[in-house]
Formats: sequence, structure tokens, C-alpha cells
Amino acid sequence: KNGGHYPIIIVGTGYGSAVAAERLATQGHKVLMLEVGLDWKGYKQQNPDFKFHKMTFPGKESTWMNKKPQAPIELGNMARFDEFTGVLQRIDYEHVKVYLGKGVGGGSLVNGGMTVVPDRNYFQEIYHKVGVELSDAELDEFYTIYFPRANDGVGKQDAPEDIVNSKWYKFARVGVQEGIDAGFEPVDVPNLYDFDYMRKEIAGEVPGSATDKEVIYGNNYGKRDLTKTYLKRALATGNVTIMPQHKVVEIKENFDGTYQLEIEQIDTLDRAVETKTFTCDKLFMGAGSLGTTALLLKSKLKGGLSKIDANVGKYWGNNGNTMASRNTLNFIGHTSRGLKQSTMPIRGLSNFDDPEHPFFAEIAPMPVMGAYTGLYLIVNKLKKFGEFSYDLTNDELKLDWNESHTAHMRKNAEFFLDRMNEHGSKGWFGSKFSNNKMLMPKNGVDESICYHPLGGVVLGKATDLYGRLKGYKNLYIMDGSLIPGSLGVNPYVTITAIAERNIDKIISQDF
Ligand code: FDA
Repeated sequence: KNGGHYPIIIVGTGYGSAVAAERLATQGHKVLMLEVGLDWKGYKQQNPDFKFHKMTFPGKESTWMNKKPQAPIELGNMARFDEFTGVLQRIDYEHVKVYLGKGVGGGSLVNGGMTVVPDRNYFQEIYHKVGVELSDAELDEFYTIYFPRANDGVGKQDAPEDIVNSKWYKFARVGVQEGIDAGFEPVDVPNLYDFDYMRKEIAGEVPGSATDKEVIYGNNYGKRDLTKTYLKRALATGNVTIMPQHKVVEIKENFDGTYQLEIEQIDTLDRAVETKTFTCDKLFMGAGSLGTTALLLKSKLKGGLSKIDANVGKYWGNNGNTMASRNTLNFIGHTSRGLKQSTMPIRGLSNFDDPEHPFFAEIAPMPVMGAYTGLYLIVNKLKKFGEFSYDLTNDELKLDWNESHTAHMRKNAEFFLDRMNEHGSKGWFGSKFSNNKMLMPKNGVDESICYHPLGGVVLGKATDLYGRLKGYKNLYIMDGSLIPGSLGVNPYVTITAIAERNIDKIISQDF
């Protein structure tokens, strides 16, 4: 079916796409957004009883096309349900499992809301590592204009004192104290969750979300996902149309320089119910690190985008993501972290300046059975990049990523746990915490969990310095694929800031 011609098409509705949509639509441009996942607002209207699932009771909408939950810590692991195009997808490679948010809003639907600007030196260093030099003037621009703009755009807030001191964040306060005792630097982590709403949750005046085990399968209230910020503002212009359940499967450049997109409209079992062809003058890619890289590599092999640069597929990383946990069964005398824990993290511990073991550890909540369990998402630096290729026979993205990429991440996590066990929290009779092998059998550490996939179409390598894909005109990359594998902190503010910077330049020069 001929879906029609559009001046601008944006693929995806995550951070990069949402920024492009808002900026273009505010300038008066008509925009079509194509999203493979569901429009969850529409889904709620059609199913008034539907609520995003708590971590403890996942139902079919929690998970993309699987009969059981795929969460790294399966608090609800007994659950079984029908397959469905749910909100959290896990893509398994041999040595890493990548988690992705699905639906209008992309990763913002499932993420923990941590809103963190990367260290300026490391931001420069990681691009330098791939041979892209960001000048001081460019960095100044990032840190004075685009990071603040991104923070404002997503709704960053610092956790207010009364919230920090509430019982819901005892896990964070205890975690910080243990970290200080162990010689790590405490870090306040802003979040985009609406803390005024959380205050009312705590007072029992409104339904709980962060205080009721909601995150990773979506939040029903309180969290400023993109449908409450960038996408809301974009839609309010009247210039944006979003087509959910539209999967882009291939891209072709036409002779006249326009682009043709092959689309499958899918049902809630990920089956094509209709195939469509759309054309556009300008194409913006925001399908995320895996989604955008896959589409470009596939289209290159199929011949539709044959001039694509050899750098597409390169410089991928897991942002050093490594989960770690410690616990004690002999808890007498140990300080409880509290039975009630908010799902939105607000504190971390840094060891980033240690040349031997540089990392940042997010103090993560364990909203069930977490009173004597510490959980951390550690963000390491990257030593070696992964690389994608595309397998046309099986129609899938392949990833070269193995233990040689992650060995130092495991070592850092074990170093962190050792120090925390040794110095943080001692119970009666000297009992200590130890690595939590019940939760993570390999010594309390799991380096296979990736929440932060980054890279594949890196800024300055596969694109120019503003995301224009090399070899093509009017084809722009906006998402996490632009970042070479690692940031040292949680990534969406940086993705947002880069998109803000790219779209400024593109609007002023290419329209
Ligand atoms: P993003 O993945 O957001 O969006 C891509 C969109 O494109 C998706 O909606 C997808 O469905 C769609 N798409 C893909 N392929 C398509 C196709 N072929 N056709 C049509 N549409 C397609 N970060 C952070 O900074 N702080 C945090 O606290 C967390 N916490 C966190 C928790 C969990 C559980 C996860 C999974 C992730 C996080 N993150 C995070 C990571 C953060 O959410 C992530 O980095 C960003 O969402 C990435 O933004 P992008 O714009 O790159 O793509």
C-alpha cells in the first residue's frame, strides 16, 4: 500500500526523535513519526482497566514477545503470560542482554529517570578515542547551552531534602554512608520524576508509582516520560502525527534524492497485518543504538543505501553496565535499608578518578526483600569497542562482544563489592555483607545486563559533526547510536543534548 509522501519522517519516538520532532514542529514543519511499539495512551483508552505492571506482578504488557518476564532481577519471575508487544524488550547476544523500551516514548517509558550530565573530560576523551576531536569551543557550547537545555527539556529535578530523608530513601542514605566508609565519593543524582507527586504518594493522597514498585515495565504516574515533555510539546503544535505499530524494515534512496521506507504495520503479536511504502524529503533516524544501526546496515546490504560509510556498525559499547549485589543473611545489628524503597534512584558513588578502578555506581533500590541487600548498577569506562554486522539470511543484527570487552568491568565490580563488604556496615559479632550469589550466581556480579546500549553510527565517524549521515543528503541520525559506546554516566541527557545541538544546526543550515 502506498502510504504517501511526507516532507519529514522521523523513525522512532525515543529521546533523539522526540527532540527532533519538537524542534521541527515548533518551526512549523509537518512531521510524521513512525514507532514500532504501542501508543500506550491509546491502549489505556481502549482498555480502561489496564495499568503498567509493577515489577512484582508483571503481565503480558510488561514484556516484548515473551511468555515470561525478562527483567534482570525477576521479582515477579513466577509470572507466565501470553506473548504481546509489551513495553520492555530484551535482545540477547552471546555475552550481553540489551534492554529497550518499546512504544511511543521509547526508553523513557521504562527507565529509572536518572538525569546525569557526563564529566566534561571523559566526554571529550571518549570521542578522542575514536579520533573525533571536540574543540574547547564545542565543549563549551555543549556544557553552557545544550546540556542545560536538555536538562530543562526532560524535566530534571534534584531530590528535595524531605524526600531524601523519608523512609523511602533510607536505602540511598545507608548506601551513601557505607560508600563513604569504604572510601568512595557520594554523588547526588538528579531525576526527572515529579517529586511533588512523590510527596503526595508518600502522604497517601494519590496512587503510588515510584513508591509502589513501578519502573522498568512503565510508570502509571509521576514519571516525566517523553509523552509528558518533548512529545507532548511536539504534538501540541498540531504539526506532528505519530503512527504506532509501524515498523520500518528497510530504507532506500530514490534517484531524485528522496527516501523510501518499507513499513510493516504490526499487530500485538508482532505480525505484519499490512505492508506500506512511505516516501520523504528528509529522514531522521531515532530508532536507538540497535534499531538505527540495524536499519542502516541492512539497507546497505540490500542496496538501498549502498554508499553508507564503513564506520556504520562500529564503536559500540554497553556503557560499562555491570550489575552487582551484596547481602547478609545474618542481619542482626546491621542497619536496615528499609522495607519500603522508591524505585527512582537519587544517589550514587563515584570512584571515577581512580586510574586503576574508575567507575560510577548507582545505588539502586530493591523494593522487595531489600532491607539487607545492596544493589548497584555500575557504569565503567570502556577499553575496547564492540562491532555490529548484519546477517541477511536470518534477518538479524549480529554483535561482536565477548569477555575481552567486559573483563575489567567484572574486576571493578568485584573490587567495589570487596571494599563495601570490608568497610561498609558491620553487624553484631562482626558479621559482614558478602557478594550476593543468590541474586547473581557469578560472585554477585553480572556484566551481561545492558540498559545503556550506545554507538554504531558515531558522530564525526559515520556522520559529520552534526549527525548528517556520510554519503547522503537529508538523512540525519539523532539517537544513542551517535555516542561511542561509553559516557561514564546514564546516557539520556547526553542523547538529548546531542540531538538538541544537531537539530539547531540542521534547521539553520539545511532548511
Ligand atoms: P530509544 O531506545 O529511547 O528509542 C528508540 C525508539 O525507536 C523506540 O521507541 C523503539 O521502539 C523505536 N524503534 C526501534 N526500531 C524501530 C523500527 N525499525 N521502526 C520503528 N520504530 C523503531 N538512561 C538514563 O539516562 N537514566 C536512567 O535512569 C536510565 N534507566 C534505564 C532503565 C532501563 C530499564 C532501561 C532499559 C534503560 C535505561 N536508561 C536510562 C537508558 C535510556 O532509556 C536510553 O539510553 C534512551 O532511551 C536511548 O534513547 P534513544 O533516543 O537512543 O532511543
